[in-house]
Amino acid sequence: MTDRADAELSAAETPPSPPVTVEDFEEVARGRLPQMVFDYYAGGAGDEWTLQQNREAFARWSFRPRVLMGGGFADLRTTVLGQDIPFPIMLAPTAFQRMADRYGELPTARAARSLDALMVLSTISTVPLEDVAETGVHRWFQLYVMRERELSAGLVKRAHAAGYRAIVLTVDTPWLGRRLRDERNRFALPPGIGLANLQGVEMPKPDQPGSSLAAYFGADHDFALGWNDLPWLRSLSPLPLVLKGVVTAEDTRLAVEAGVDAVVVSNHGGRQLDGAPATLDALPEVVEAADGRIEVYLDGGVRRGSDVLKALALGARAVLIGRPYLWGLAANGEAGVRQVIELFRDELILAMGLCGCRSVSEISRALVSPAAGVRGTDRGA
Ligand code: GLV
Repeated sequence: MTDRADAELSAAETPPSPPVTVEDFEEVARGRLPQMVFDYYAGGAGDEWTLQQNREAFARWSFRPRVLMGGGFADLRTTVLGQDIPFPIMLAPTAFQRMADRYGELPTARAARSLDALMVLSTISTVPLEDVAETGVHRWFQLYVMRERELSAGLVKRAHAAGYRAIVLTVDTPWLGRRLRDERNRFALPPGIGLANLQGVEMPKPDQPGSSLAAYFGADHDFALGWNDLPWLRSLSPLPLVLKGVVTAEDTRLAVEAGVDAVVVSNHGGRQLDGAPATLDALPEVVEAADGRIEVYLDGGVRRGSDVLKALALGARAVLIGRPYLWGLAANGEAGVRQVIELFRDELILAMGLCGCRSVSEISRALVSPAAGVRGTDRGA
């Protein structure tokens, strides 16, 4: 046998290595998804600077681990808005999951349910919110406000009736950011997939370069929504209100004054304003302005259990993951989502154990410091 044939034989005998990181799941997903779909999930706005910064910001902090603290496995249990969750990691709202798996948001919800994790369902899901509720998952509902206000009012009422326990209003999307990958790919929903919560609302077909999602947002979403609309929103249901997309102290103070219950420090996964700060960089000023009066969560760039720990040390009560579980969904359906959540959970247990943290309540600002060589990261918190 030639050397080459030998090498081919042993390559064929070696089973592919199982995914052990979020990036491994992303690689599997990349191989399975059409380019247009992969780009839609993976991409950001403009030069994707904010997208990249979200990730890089975690490397700007290092741990100050404590040793000989005793204890065994760290206790990850916590609460969000008074609801018990088994670990401080929730599923962020992500759109159009039937592009990743034929059953869409259902396997995601079932995976979350099996681990008691909390899922935030997107307004623009591809399975109706009532069907997702039937899985029994702990659930909050993400809201986009349409110009036709009655459509959004109807969604809030339906979400309340279906047992969703908070409304998460996305506030960073008066218009859709310019996502160049989607424009080049003429992003459109594949046939048979639609806006399952919005009967009768169609996404326009892109007959010229551009993204049909951007066209839909431009035509139907309420870009004039303001702080003075929040009382109307609150009047629609007794559910707590969370604002997703806050990155400044000013807006945090306004949220507190408006009686909002929590904010998510988010830049929409780098998909909206390119040039917005990395969420981990914005977190300290939001936490300081919230001053314990409302809960603060964070999403964006979270790819490791150690990232979760850094965000909690800087004052987040919990984090949300988005793309990572979509990669799990595309790679292996419900089992893939579950594997990704477990990966984060187990890495968080390990990171806490190695830092000498026995429970979430022991995580404090003293656990992190700016990484060597990084200037201006420590804002004195
Ligand atoms: C939808 O919310 C998106 O970011 O594409």
